[in-house]
Amino acid sequence: MPTALVAPSLLAADFARLADEIARVEEAGADLLHLDVMDGHFVPNLSFGIPIIEAVRKVTRLKLDTHLMISEPARYLQAFKEAGADALTVHLEVCPDPLPILAQIRSLGLECGLTINPATPVEGLFPFLAHTDLILIMSVQPGFGGQRFMPASLDKVRALRERLDQENLKTPIQIDGGINPQNAPDCRQAGVGIIVAGSAVFGASDPAAAIRALAGR
Ligand code: DX5
Ligand code: ZN
Repeated sequence: MPTALVAPSLLAADFARLADEIARVEEAGADLLHLDVMDGHFVPNLSFGIPIIEAVRKVTRLKLDTHLMISEPARYLQAFKEAGADALTVHLEVCPDPLPILAQIRSLGLECGLTINPATPVEGLFPFLAHTDLILIMSVQPGFGGQRFMPASLDKVRALRERLDQENLKTPIQIDGGINPQNAPDCRQAGVGIIVAGSAVFGASDPAAAIRALAGR
């Protein structure tokens, strides 16, 4: 059974104690930290932005995997870079021709990711695979943590893995939304290499056990 990296989603943390929460998941074996930036326009929720990323950068060495659920990501690339983000993932729904922004992210020395909402066909990603460092498949409608996993997302993961293999690309597939120790094995079996989990980690009484279960290690 394949293993996966685990990226706890900070959205599920106690925002009154962010430094402690980050230390808790870091000690528990988190591989990356997933930061859900929401603008209240692309998604019907507002989460956090640059100041929080600056603060998080000061208290962890974990890779800051930044998921931009915002309508105009190109406006903020430099600011996210300066705040300390390591990777920026943009939605195809707001960047229908993503090649320029993916190149811009890389020119800033950051890793670039491309993601699609549940309603967007996975084939929409296919022309751009060779230009990304990560592909994120949303398994919930973006905007909120704690939602129910959408099993149809695994069909997208399998189709994507097949296409990446055909193109001899080792690009990791990340999944995000409603992932827990019960559905994580199916995700890993389908080809997911990085699991984002918010509630399943920050809500766990034993985050280390949760991370091990999600990772399959
Ligand atoms: C949803 C976010 C997800 C979410 C995951 O818009 O992109 O990262 O926070 O949270 P859980 O794991 O609780 O579904
Ligand atoms: Zn996310």
